[in-house]
Amino acid sequence: MRSAIEKRVSRRKFEQEALTIEEKEKIISLIHQLNGESGLRMEFLEDGSGAFQKLRKSYGLFTNVRSLVLMKGKKEDKDLKEKIGYYGEDLVLAITDLGLGTCWVGGTFDPDEFTIDSDEELACVVVMGKVAAPSLTEKMVRSATHRKGKSIEERIKSDQPLPQWIKNGMEVVLLAPSAKNTQKTIFRYENNILIAEIVDDYSMDLIDLGIAKKHFEIGAGGKFEFGNSGVFHLS
Ligand SMILES: Cc1cc2nc3c(=O)[nH]c(=O)nc-3n(C[C@H](O)[C@H](O)[C@H](O)COP(=O)(O)O)c2cc1C
Repeated sequence: MRSAIEKRVSRRKFEQEALTIEEKEKIISLIHQLNGESGLRMEFLEDGSGAFQKLRKSYGLFTNVRSLVLMKGKKEDKDLKEKIGYYGEDLVLAITDLGLGTCWVGGTFDPDEFTIDSDEELACVVVMGKVAAPSLTEKMVRSATHRKGKSIEERIKSDQPLPQWIKNGMEVVLLAPSAKNTQKTIFRYENNILIAEIVDDYSMDLIDLGIAKKHFEIGAGGKFEFGNSGVFHLS
């Protein structure tokens, strides 16, 4: 998991070569397991390329998109977006471990290409595929979206010096993907209580919150409660 975290960067250009049967089976079986744990309804699509074919929507940033996961769940789930980020990042890291490239995609695809049950909400997709060395376009998109990464001090407010376990968690938070690379999730450690929160004013924010919590837990152990300002429990 840790090596996948260090390796992972968003990839937007894929090789034409399809996923192998073994890769697909592993991904589908993990989706099944994560759906069971979370109540989400993530769904693997062997070919979701239609949602990336109109330049208008994808801004030409993606090349050879084929396989993807529909990141969806029940509309009535009050923690839906956060769970999508939290469990979806497990999936992204496992796919990275298979040697494949991935990218969370919330805006630059055409959702009308997919049929979703009426009781479901599609929050975003995760695209995946074989990757070669990063292309020039990818490097340009990366440098355009990557302002300087924020520091631990910018991401956590505390009324006391940070204990080592929090530093361990925050180091991993700094490597988390976030929509438009805004890195908006903020942690607060006050009166020995740790919470994670985000100013929720963009449709992807609560997904980012779930991803950031997942990264913290990988670095520190323990578990956050779901919810904006959810409390952390060190197990
Ligand atoms: C919830 C979410 C939605 C995203 N949506 C898009 C998108 O619509 N188009 C895109 O090119 N990248 C998208 N990204 C990728 C981010 O731009 C990327 O994670 C961020 O710039 C940090 O770069 P890194 O993933 O390489 O570390 C999204 C990421 C997240 C977490």
